Formats: sequence, structure tokens, C-alpha cells
Amino acid sequence: MMKSEAAVRLKDVKKSFDGGKEFVLKGIDLEVKKGSLTAIIGFSGTGKSVVLKHLLGLFKPTSGYIEVLGTDIGKLSEEELTNFRCKFGVLFQSAALFDDMTVLENVCFPLIEHRRDLKMTQVLRIAEEKLQQVGLESKHYHKLPSQISGGMQKRTGLARALALDPEILIYDEPTTGLDPILTEMVDNLILSTHKIREGTTSIMVSHDLSAAFRIADHIAMLDSGRVLLYGTPEDFYNTEIELVKKFVNKGIKHR
Ligand SMILES: Nc1ncnc2c1ncn2[C@@H]1O[C@H](COP(=O)(O)OP(=O)(O)O)[C@@H](O)[C@H]1O
Ligand SMILES: [Mg+2]
Repeated sequence: MMKSEAAVRLKDVKKSFDGGKEFVLKGIDLEVKKGSLTAIIGFSGTGKSVVLKHLLGLFKPTSGYIEVLGTDIGKLSEEELTNFRCKFGVLFQSAALFDDMTVLENVCFPLIEHRRDLKMTQVLRIAEEKLQQVGLESKHYHKLPSQISGGMQKRTGLARALALDPEILIYDEPTTGLDPILTEMVDNLILSTHKIREGTTSIMVSHDLSAAFRIADHIAMLDSGRVLLYGTPEDFYNTEIELVKKFVNKGIKHR
């Protein structure tokens, strides 16, 4: 019997910072299905990034329960948590590449850090395979991030996120600040990466609604530290919840 079909399970997760009375997360209940591409949407400041940081174990909940791939991460030591994070591939708004490393070195980095068992030739082979997967041509492998375009930087960041073959891919506002053409390119890359990697769970925070509806199979809308609605894009179109309707009808364009 499968222990869990959920990649991620949050139960009544509450979070206040520095022992304050104000709660940023006010009881988050959410199950992200294994193998799904789930978008987390909502206005700025509603706790989307804070939720992601809890999944990664970077923040500890004030109360509540967080399970990732069947593991209660609240029970892990710092060292176990560090290893556990290898199950995640993360891409933030900025690709956060190392400026003084080449494209190829950037992708090799997590492998050198975490896969001491591999020979350098194997590391290079895997890194090149990931770069190929995200559509970066080999003529760019030995360039520095500053010498390639923004789109290529995103591809490099994604290749690095894929290096350790993570079971969960996390994107936080991957297209915020990009022009429409690049936005579509990155969204398509997220979708094709998700499809190629069978069984991988992708969780994307976005305030780009149209992207969420186009590529996600499940959507969770957060508002003021709670999940307002979780469901398929269909569920969102058919909702009677006023705030969700407003969000869906207008789309949302703000920073
Ligand atoms: N490290 C922190 N310390 C204190 N407050 C924080 C911290 N990180 C986030 N917050 C607060 O939590 C709220 C939600 O933030 P965030 O999750 O980043 O919003 P968003 O939905 O836009 O991603 C904001 O009010 C933010 O100021
Ligand atoms: Mg955020």
C-alpha cells in the first residue's frame, strides 16, 4: 500500500515571526499531489514564499505539521534537513547563478557538493545532459552568466536545479520582471521539464494567473495566510467564492 500519494502535506500550519502575535500563516491546509504541477497564486504578501520556505525547511512553523514525500520534516535534524533538501530543485525569480563560475561550472556545483561518489567525468556528463535538456547550446557552456542573455540564465538556473534529479521542483515567481516573450519561454520550459520528468512534482508560485491556468493542473489560492481555494483550473472557473472570482476575472497585473 502506498503510504502517501501526496508530495507535500501541510496541516494547520501557522507561522509568526520572532514570537510576534501577528500570524503570516494562519492555518494552512494543503496537499500537493505527487506528480502534479501545482501553482500557488494570490496577491503579494499573502504568504506564498513563506509557504515554500517551510517546505524547504528554511522556516519552522510556529505550529502545525509539514510532511514532504512521506517524511515529517519537523523531526529532522539540521544535518538531515540539509541532505533532505537535495530532493528539491529550486528556481527563484533571479536565477541566482554564481557570477564567477561558467555556465557548466554552475550546473556541476551541486553535483560536486552532494555527489562525492561521482568522478569528474560523470559530473560533467550529467551537467551537460541537464543543459541539453533545458535547451542550452554547448557553445555557451564556458561563458560566464554575465555573458549570456536573461533567458539563457534562466535555463542555466533550471539545469542547476535539475542536477541532482530532484523529486520536487520549486519555482518562486520564475517570470516576474520578464518580458512577455521570455515569460512564455520560461513557462513552457517549466511545463516541458515537468512532462519529461515523470513522477516529478512541480510547485510554482506565481502571480501570473494566465500562466497558472495554462500550465498547472492544480491551483492553490492563498489569501492572508490561508488557502482560499484549492482545485483544478476548472474549479477556479466555476467557483462561487467572491474573492477568487474577482482574482480570476480580472487576472492580476501588479508588483
Ligand atoms: N523572515 C521574515 N521575517 C518577518 N516577516 C516575514 C519574513 N518573511 C516574510 N515575512 C512576511 O510574511 C508575509 C508574507 O510574505 P511572502 O510569503 O513573502 O509573500 P508573497 O505571497 O508575496 O510571497 C509578508 O508580510 C512578509 O513581510
Ligand atoms: Mg513571494
